[in-house]
Amino acid sequence: MNDPLTPDRVSPLFRSSFGQKYRFKSSVDSTQNELHDNDPEGTIVVADQQLKGRGRHGKTWMAPSGRALLMSIRLHLETSQPAMQIALVVGVLLAEIVEREINFSTSIKWPNDILVKDKKVAGILVEQRRNLVSLGIGINVNQTKEELPTGTHIKPISLRIIDGKIHDRAKILATIAEELEFNYRVWQEKGLNAFTTQIQERDALFGRRVRVGSLHGIAAGIAPNGSLVVDIEGKHEMVTSGEVHIEK
Ligand code: BTN
Repeated sequence: MNDPLTPDRVSPLFRSSFGQKYRFKSSVDSTQNELHDNDPEGTIVVADQQLKGRGRHGKTWMAPSGRALLMSIRLHLETSQPAMQIALVVGVLLAEIVEREINFSTSIKWPNDILVKDKKVAGILVEQRRNLVSLGIGINVNQTKEELPTGTHIKPISLRIIDGKIHDRAKILATIAEELEFNYRVWQEKGLNAFTTQIQERDALFGRRVRVGSLHGIAAGIAPNGSLVVDIEGKHEMVTSGEVHIEK
């Protein structure tokens, strides 16, 4: 596998302002810890390996060195912007990028998982302190079946397992940087409404029986503000956070 993520290989591929400040580390605890308060918006940190990679709800994110795309991006929010919507804005673009890469349809499991064949190919972690957001993205790119973690809430899958090909992480990274900057600006100007159709088209939960915390019902779409709508015996509940379990 010859897809180094070092600046000499990656920086020439960046086409917009996101990624102009770029740091690569071979091994870190978590790329989320490698962003500094004074980093400008669009700073990107990437690592080949994380010793304490984290997911949502205190979970770990595991990947062998050099196989996954592990990145964190600094965003500076305006105070009025609901950070929870970022996961959906990023989810749409990751779903589209992955779909183009493997030529296979993807879906979004609210709020932050990208699925292929109902298995997780990518996850998004939004961590916020004041107006500073550390946007973490993990994509299972070149792992073999044996290299994916076991015992996870949703079964994992990688791009390589789906199409049998080795993928160039640097190209995927540069595409994410460019399209993220574009979608993020659109979201800042127009809000989540600009993405409603794309989100709904890829909603992995729609019509399925779900449980979120103590709520049981049928997933009934994503509300304009990004909440998950759950139909509980005809009454619509808005869910703003939590882990969604798909019930068989
Ligand atoms: C989730 O699925 O719960 C979110 C997973 C996010 C994983 C990425 S990998 C790069 C960044 N650094 C971390 O420690 N986590 C995110």
